[in-house]
Amino acid sequence: MHDRNHRQVRSYVLRQGRITPAQRKALDDHLQTYGLTHDDHPCDPNHIFGRTAPKVLEIGAGAGEFTLQAASRHPENDYLAVEVHKPGIGSLLQGIVARRLANIRVVNQDVVEVLTHLVPAASLDQVMIFFPDPWPKRRHHKRRLINSGFLTLLANRMKSHARLYVATDCEDMAVEILSLCDGQPGLQNLAGRGRFAPRPVWRPLTRFEQRGRRLGHTVFDLVYGLR
Ligand SMILES: C[S@@+](CC[C@H](N)C(=O)[O-])C[C@H]1O[C@@H](n2cnc3c(N)ncnc32)[C@H](O)[C@@H]1O
Repeated sequence: MHDRNHRQVRSYVLRQGRITPAQRKALDDHLQTYGLTHDDHPCDPNHIFGRTAPKVLEIGAGAGEFTLQAASRHPENDYLAVEVHKPGIGSLLQGIVARRLANIRVVNQDVVEVLTHLVPAASLDQVMIFFPDPWPKRRHHKRRLINSGFLTLLANRMKSHARLYVATDCEDMAVEILSLCDGQPGLQNLAGRGRFAPRPVWRPLTRFEQRGRRLGHTVFDLVYGLR
């Protein structure tokens, strides 16, 4: 039977991947405490965190290098980190516990489902998408996370004047994202139409970015404001 909610193309393939005993233990011990699922139904993020505070969403958080650093430096903000890869969530949970952070929640699900079912409209102050999977082969471009439908959904979940930060080391995807975001009616390129932004000073150098640098890749940053 045809399922209307079934998304045909996903932006990831779940790898079997190695999970370390420490990551497994962190998942077993702490996912219950810090994890949300999109079955939790849309609810006020202030309710989830138990306070009224700016909300920051990191999409494809990997091992959580950005979220852990930002949440430590900005206890005044609340962070929602979404990642489909379990070992990454395990590392992020280890970091949350080691640093005793109360301002992070994690979601181990597809961000499209999370935005659709869990995050209410006009609730996010900042959104970070650092190094989305590049899907370099042309026949795989349809798997790229950022497309115009995704941007429409995301913009709907952002508050007015919220910020969207993107970084990638895949040049043709950077150009594609620039064109898609510049063409999105709700978004304004803060570097000026058709321009990439300077690297935000606070953006940490993740392991993924270091690998790109070793390979000689240029990194492109984009910064948008919701009109
Ligand atoms: C190339 S990695 C970058 C990780 C991290 N942002 C960094 O800079 O190191 C991209 C991440 O996005 C995650 N991802 C891809 N599609 C996703 C989706 N639809 N929902 C949630 N996470 C996703 C992947 O599992 C992967 O960990």
